[in-house]
Amino acid sequence: MKTLIGPFAQILPMTGLSLKGTLQDEQLTVIPKGGIVVENGEIVAIAEYKSLLQKYPDSEIAFIDTPQVLLPGFIDCHTHICYDGTRSRDYAMRIAGKSYLEIARAGGGIWDSVTKTRVADIVTLTENTVARANRHLKEGVTTIEVKSGYGLSLESELKMLRAIQQAGMHTPATLISTCLAAHMKPRDYEGTEEEYLQWVLTELLPVIQQEQLSNRVDIFIEETAFSAKAAAHFLQQAMQQGFAATVHADQFSAGGAEVAVNAQALSADHLEASSEKEIALLAKSDTVAVVLPGASLGLGMQYAPARKLLNAGACVAIASDWNPGSAPMGDLLVQAAVMSAAEKLSTAEVLAALTVRAAPALQLKDAGQLIAGYAADLQAYPTADYRDILYYQGKMKPAMVWKKGVLVP
Ligand code: NIG
Ligand code: FE
Repeated sequence: MKTLIGPFAQILPMTGLSLKGTLQDEQLTVIPKGGIVVENGEIVAIAEYKSLLQKYPDSEIAFIDTPQVLLPGFIDCHTHICYDGTRSRDYAMRIAGKSYLEIARAGGGIWDSVTKTRVADIVTLTENTVARANRHLKEGVTTIEVKSGYGLSLESELKMLRAIQQAGMHTPATLISTCLAAHMKPRDYEGTEEEYLQWVLTELLPVIQQEQLSNRVDIFIEETAFSAKAAAHFLQQAMQQGFAATVHADQFSAGGAEVAVNAQALSADHLEASSEKEIALLAKSDTVAVVLPGASLGLGMQYAPARKLLNAGACVAIASDWNPGSAPMGDLLVQAAVMSAAEKLSTAEVLAALTVRAAPALQLKDAGQLIAGYAADLQAYPTADYRDILYYQGKMKPAMVWKKGVLVP
């Protein structure tokens, strides 16, 4: 049975936009008085509401009686929402003046979350992940990448990935898991970073593949985590095993983005410390430059150079990095809106970064745009002017969200 939803004051299908480089708002397609027909979780047609009424006279009508702007659901292509415990102690130390690296060296940081996540049972981790995914979904985020990386042992990495898989069955949101066993060398691992990465490649990834828990890997390239050289080898080997790759790159020091581009990773994420060299490399490549304003806000540090990346011609996506340490807020729209004011990003660039330009980071073929045949992942904001969405800096939330054509309660 087809359902015709509308009329909407405006529909922004986010179609016909270049994946790379600058965008002006005038380039956005805006369908006034639009409607959308959905069936079996997919989009059937998008056009002027009246024309759809004529073309699909037998459809069920989902009448929208207030002015609303319809967009594709957002894609959050970088999160760590599977964890237990908080890191408010770290945060208090940080705002009192201690640096991220100082806190890590004092026993806080990622290892603290590893300790808390290791002792949590799979039910708790699943419930935590479902709760965060459902909160995101209510806020219009219909596809969410979720990383492991707070387990860092065979048993605990598998527990995290199984929890993410189970969470995906208990939330309408689409969850895409990534193995981030290469988040840091665990403190209790006796061996070099190369040996640890080799262990991930030979002992952990084959089990993940066998259980179909993930087909993606991530690695954190940084002085407190893994070197560029070790990471390059790891990525090449993991990709040879059939995993797609993404990289935590250039967060505090440059070097990771170059590794990501050379490895033809799907994305290089963070980039707060990228220099002109990394910007040029990313712009020339097909690697998506994922900027994470939530981590800049959480750490009180500079934003990634999104404006420069776009000017140079890169594909820029914006993700939340929602995690207990550097980005606890987890509000993607607030973060994108606040960053856009500081970095001078156009509304078109921001909305594209949350939809059509985030899709390739996750190899999504049916999300991020409103096109017939794509998933009916939709969100409607209570306004007649799409520019209000960033104007209210994330405080205006979608009034309605549909996942695969079903209204989220
Ligand atoms: O993306 N940079 C490394 N990893 C996370 C932080 C995780 C944590 O601090 O727990 C990030 O910011
Ligand atoms: Fe991250």
